Amino acid sequence: MSITVDVPTPNTGQATSFPATAGNRPPSAAPAQAEVPAFLTEAELAAQLVGDARRIRVLTGDRPTGALHLGHYLGSLRNRVRLQDAGADMFVLVADYQVVTDRDAGAHTTGHALGLVADYLACGLDPARSTIFAHSAVPALNQLLLPLLSLVSVAELERNPTTKAEAASAGRPALSALMLTYPVHQAADILFCHADLVPVGRDQLPHLEVTRTVARRFNTRYRPLFTEPRALISDAPSVLGSDGAKMSKSRGNTIALRATADETAAVIKGFKTDPDRHITYDPTTRPEVSNLVLITALCRGEDPHTVAEQIGSGGAATLKRHATEAVNEHLRPLRARRAEIAAERALLSGILRRGAERATAEAEATLQQVREAMGMAY
Ligand code: TRP
Repeated sequence: MSITVDVPTPNTGQATSFPATAGNRPPSAAPAQAEVPAFLTEAELAAQLVGDARRIRVLTGDRPTGALHLGHYLGSLRNRVRLQDAGADMFVLVADYQVVTDRDAGAHTTGHALGLVADYLACGLDPARSTIFAHSAVPALNQLLLPLLSLVSVAELERNPTTKAEAASAGRPALSALMLTYPVHQAADILFCHADLVPVGRDQLPHLEVTRTVARRFNTRYRPLFTEPRALISDAPSVLGSDGAKMSKSRGNTIALRATADETAAVIKGFKTDPDRHITYDPTTRPEVSNLVLITALCRGEDPHTVAEQIGSGGAATLKRHATEAVNEHLRPLRARRAEIAAERALLSGILRRGAERATAEAEATLQQVREAMGMAY
């Protein structure tokens, strides 16, 4: 499997620039961003990371709205751990203020946020090497939103296809102002620490484009300060849920990482299949059956066609048995680690507090530079 680096097309016609001294980070020994090829394999990226004394900075995040699931794991969490292990300077954001774009927060939010940290640790993120922190604990990050908001128009925000889709599925009569502006908040999430790479799903590319636009406009209007981050798109095929639609927390069609082996078996039993007993791997014509084949293959580290051939005419029941065993086997160590830490609230909150300290130091330095650039440092 490989990761490709996707460079969104600049939409202002200006050349991509990479200031010699980006933000508050030490001068870069890495090549100027414009010289970085548009696509990198995971191996090339890993080689760059190992040889990079400055350490490529990576920021990713998740909304704490529920348990992480197999789709998150196969599509993105595994890659984050690989990046961390390859030496990237990882910032991992528990995007708690983004929860309230389309729902209310409350007492349950604490559990979701700490559960997210437990999921991260279970997957192999290491708080000694990765900075895990929450939005709400880093005031300077949030203050950056104000100057950045001045750099985009309401019309631009209203055109954002991802925001439109999310607003449509939110099931609320009125679009909240936070929903409309959260892509700019996300720009603050990325720019406060001068991240170089942002591993995201394809649905997030419009937001990355907002970040790049805002960075470019700030650099042009005030002074070159921000790195234009690049999206890192995983080429892991996306995993479908029990109903045949993309696996997603909001659809309730997931295999949660934290689920027990029996719960996993029950969920997989309910996965949609088709009546043809002969199992094949053909995602276009047989999406549901192929999805179970793919899940089995990804968990076993095998080719999906080989998995399909092994099952042959065994039918959906055999396929589901294989899928259940493969998922449970693959997640066993992760679940064991999670079980050890999930109840340790003090440990999990401590990780968020330490992460917030480091993120705050970064955010305050960036905010100070922004205020100086804007003539607001008195
Ligand atoms: N919007 C992202 C999601 O829903 C979460 C997120 C918040 C994020 N801030 C971010 C992702 C910054 C990448 C970078 O999945």
